[in-house]
Amino acid sequence: MAHWHFAGERIVAGFSRCWRRLGAGGLALAALLVCVPPAYAWGPRGHRIVARLAEAQLTPPARAEAQRLLALRDAQHLSQVANWADDLRDSNPALFHRTERLHFVNFHSSDCVFVPPRDCWRGECAVAAIEKYSAILANRGNRPALRAEALAFVVHFVADVHQPLHAGYRPDAGGNDFQVHFEGRGTNLHRVWDSGLLDTVQLSTAAYARKLGAERTPIETGGTPAGWAEESCRIDRDDGVYPATHVIGGAYVERERPIAEMRLRQTGARLAALLNRDLAKG
Ligand code: ADE
Ligand code: ZN
Ligand code: ZN
Repeated sequence: MAHWHFAGERIVAGFSRCWRRLGAGGLALAALLVCVPPAYAWGPRGHRIVARLAEAQLTPPARAEAQRLLALRDAQHLSQVANWADDLRDSNPALFHRTERLHFVNFHSSDCVFVPPRDCWRGECAVAAIEKYSAILANRGNRPALRAEALAFVVHFVADVHQPLHAGYRPDAGGNDFQVHFEGRGTNLHRVWDSGLLDTVQLSTAAYARKLGAERTPIETGGTPAGWAEESCRIDRDDGVYPATHVIGGAYVERERPIAEMRLRQTGARLAALLNRDLAKG
């Protein structure tokens, strides 16, 4: 809870900073139109939404075990540990460096067929990471602190592998090297998908998660980590993710944001299924 509060305050602070820059008088309407919440470095928002969606789908025994492990990390909710793997960049650079390559998988062919020796050399990719940390989590013989860390990694990496550009096939570092024009400035395609698309929705993260949790359009659940990565790769290839003009406008957002949201809903359901299995009483 404390964490969500904090995120909310950061958004409010972002609004008020922007508001002050525009000046007090007569610009209220302009401020409402221009002061979008700041874009964070899936970004924090995507990961929190996935964690909330998954938590709502946990079985009672899995929920109880999750709470026991989360308590070891001073947390009560999955959303409070969902961004830890990214936050390591600042809080524990050595551990971040050792786990940096686990946030994505780069396919080496547009066939989008996952070939481990080719696409996941030495097991250093999101697919192998999910399998590794899921196994650590499921093994009750492991120290609780180790399992709690594995829980935080699993919650994060299952979401990352569903972000289409975290499992791409082009030699552009998952769109990081694909420059685009978006909302009046230069950025890259990877950032647009991590956070830009989701940040166009003017809802709190909690409200956004509730909205997606209430949607009833059928989504495909099930599958394996390798299959989830292959889906991401095919989305990059087939679904208009790469804008021919390098300009991202309203039509792109209207077309691609529903795909991003579908991926968040799939991730929530699939992460819950994985946790319900790994955290069930052995
Ligand atoms: N760096 C290299 N490839 C990447 C990817 N697919 N996603 C994020 N960062 C990357
Ligand atoms: Zn990540
Ligand atoms: Zn990313």
